[in-house]
Amino acid sequence: MNRFDFCVPTDIRFGEGQVECLAKEIGKYGSRVLLVYGGGSIKKTGLYDKIYEVLKDYQIYELSGIEPNPKLSSVRKGAELCKKNDIDVILAVGGGSSIDASKHIACAAFYDGDPWDLVLDKTLATKALPIFTVLTICATGSEMNPGAVISNEETKEKLEISLPMLYPTLSVCDPTYLYTLPPMQTAAGTADIISHIFEQYFQPNDGAYITDRLSEAALKTCFKYGPIALKEPQNYEARSNLMWTSSIGLNHLFTVGKGGAWSVHPIEHELSAFYDITHGVGLAILTPQWMRYVLSDNTVARFAMYARNVWDIKEADDYVAANAGIDKTEKFFHELGLPGTLTEIGIDDSQFTEMATEAVRTSGLSTRSYVKLTPEDVVKIYKMCL
Ligand code: NZQ
Ligand code: ZN
Repeated sequence: MNRFDFCVPTDIRFGEGQVECLAKEIGKYGSRVLLVYGGGSIKKTGLYDKIYEVLKDYQIYELSGIEPNPKLSSVRKGAELCKKNDIDVILAVGGGSSIDASKHIACAAFYDGDPWDLVLDKTLATKALPIFTVLTICATGSEMNPGAVISNEETKEKLEISLPMLYPTLSVCDPTYLYTLPPMQTAAGTADIISHIFEQYFQPNDGAYITDRLSEAALKTCFKYGPIALKEPQNYEARSNLMWTSSIGLNHLFTVGKGGAWSVHPIEHELSAFYDITHGVGLAILTPQWMRYVLSDNTVARFAMYARNVWDIKEADDYVAANAGIDKTEKFFHELGLPGTLTEIGIDDSQFTEMATEAVRTSGLSTRSYVKLTPEDVVKIYKMCL
């Protein structure tokens, strides 16, 4: 195994009714709370009223309307609200978008310049407000990691800011909040969880046997419970297993002893930056084609291992097994009801070169990913997805 540091300071409160703990826990950090949420699902589900009931002794300010693929303009608004109202704590209620915006706001609240500066130069971030989250969609793992992905609508960049100070202080993960998710969000969220595990699994092993076996268990959990959650939205067993898998899927547990840069995420982030599509939908389209593109004598053993250990494929020949595993993956996304091509979601080849260039420029694709990719390679993968 490679050397590693592993420190996840987020306090997780998992299970039905855990939201009640906020009444006491937030108070340890102050009384002035900025509530950050999205387009209104929390009002429809009643969670908004519940938050006010639990936080009846607090002074609450609000930033609503956080977009899926959260925008820099929302972060700017949030940072202003924090400065103006002397906010003590940020409470994000929602999914990765509300949580990511909150993380960026948390450090922008202590910075005098434009929040985008912090994305471009993380050393400018010196301090962050404590972040609490109440998770309503399981997908990104943002509830238990230090990353935030923000879209700059002016430059069409979608970039990550990741700093230890941005780990949420406490996250409430109540699987019953997932019951109201629309099918497409359940499917896209499951695809995102799977992709996070793939990004860490498809790397050189470096002797990290335990890490690969944990990843395979997490993948099997998604393949088992994704379809059940879709068919039975109120199935607690399915929702709870997926919810915990999303958190451990990207708290870097599955990177332990391994490493390397990610492949499909930077390619997808350009799709959602240019076309504002749902992140998990982009990943589901790209992943099988990326797998086919990078399958070679150098990678076939790992793809065959995936096929045998996760899908129980018995083929003795590595290439036959690997291809069967890739086909199963593609079929799984299809059966979740996710689109299989870029054409289906209205994306053509007109911006492929620009997106591919950006994907390589802003990531470790050409230097540290499992199979190193040039912009020309990325264009070919986009074309395979048409
Ligand atoms: O905005 P509202 O009205 O709340 O509706 C949301 C939104 O439309 C809806 N929703 C959420 N919970 C619901 C619900 N509807 C009904 N019932 C519920 N319980 O679902 C939609 C999607 O929400 P969003 O927060 O955008 O989803 P997600 O958690 O997938 O976050 C996506 C964002 O996170 C980034 C993505 O790129 C994207 O911008 N990522 C963040 C990462 C991280 N911080 O570590 C890593 C990921 O790879 C990813 O890049
Ligand atoms: Zn993701």
